[in-house]
Amino acid sequence: MTATTAPVGPVRTADPDRFRWPADFPRIPDQDWTRQDVDRFGLSYDSVGQHSWYKNLEPTVSQVLAALGEHKVMVDYSSGTGILTKRLLSHIDHPVGIVNVDASPKFLRVALENHGHDDRVAFRLLGFDKARKQLQTLDEVIDPSLVDRGVDIITSTNAIHLYYNLTETLESWAKVLRPGGLASVCSANLRNPGRRAGDWIIDETVEKVNEIAAELVAREPVFADYREALADSAAMAGHTKLREKVFVPVRPLDVYLDAFTDAGFKVRHVFDATIYAEVEEWFQLLSTYHDGVLSWVGGSPKVDGRTPSDLALKHRLFLIRYSLEKLFPGQSSFPCTWSYITCSR
Ligand SMILES: C[S@@+](CC[C@H](N)C(=O)[O-])C[C@H]1O[C@@H](n2cnc3c(N)ncnc32)[C@H](O)[C@@H]1O
Repeated sequence: MTATTAPVGPVRTADPDRFRWPADFPRIPDQDWTRQDVDRFGLSYDSVGQHSWYKNLEPTVSQVLAALGEHKVMVDYSSGTGILTKRLLSHIDHPVGIVNVDASPKFLRVALENHGHDDRVAFRLLGFDKARKQLQTLDEVIDPSLVDRGVDIITSTNAIHLYYNLTETLESWAKVLRPGGLASVCSANLRNPGRRAGDWIIDETVEKVNEIAAELVAREPVFADYREALADSAAMAGHTKLREKVFVPVRPLDVYLDAFTDAGFKVRHVFDATIYAEVEEWFQLLSTYHDGVLSWVGGSPKVDGRTPSDLALKHRLFLIRYSLEKLFPGQSSFPCTWSYITCSR
């Protein structure tokens, strides 16, 4: 795939039992983001689907395959670039509908590139409502014809920890899900009391990377240029704020269970699994998000108006890799806990 405005390919028709979206429900909305170029950052995230820790999708895939019968509809909420949808469709031959919903037009554009040719897949953007200073909710972006029909399953993989308006988000899911429908979520970034000793909460490695990088910068003359930022507590508060936007502070499992209950769901099943992340692959992901990891190395337009030099960007990547090596000496991978929650409406 290349970063161009490649047109969406020929539409796949799974006749004779082709899935039919409700009347007045365009699969691909007439919105600007659908006509934008495919973004390199979005493509870079898409490759994460091949990483060892993306084994985390397997329980959700199994659950959906068991529940998504003929002519059922699922919402892949926070679909990103459509990695879960891709895995599901590779196993599904019968007619189903899967709506990819995401808050990022760049990621959703890659999902459109990946699945736009498949008439089983539809796309909806959660736009930012400037007046309310928040994202649109699911019931606002799913057309009334589909809300009236109701969807059968809502999934959210590797994303629920990012929902700043958790209760409102789940309430909107309850409006769109059919009675008896399932909500299935997973995340490695919630504090699960069942977590095995030695397992990581994967995003908490980022804070450790910051600590180790700061020690090296303070000690090694080659990094002297970055010491001024380190010594400036107001500047560092800005960098921490940016980091916590990308790698958000972790909330306990109970917060999620209570929010589901408060939104009218019944919590059916909670379990966890240890999944190993390859250090090298985690380095690749942190490199993609380097601005959210170590923006104090060279600065960031989002924090202090500075654009990091090429050298500073090289130093960032070096410091991330060095810190991971210090954190996991001689290890090729590290264990993380993924938590899975299944609820019904
Ligand atoms: C780590 S990615 C996971 C993508 C995909 N589900 C997967 O497992 O590969 C997190 C996704 O959540 C989306 N997201 C971030 N904040 C969100 C919010 N408040 N509401 C809905 N989606 C959000 C992002 O745009 C991104 O696509």
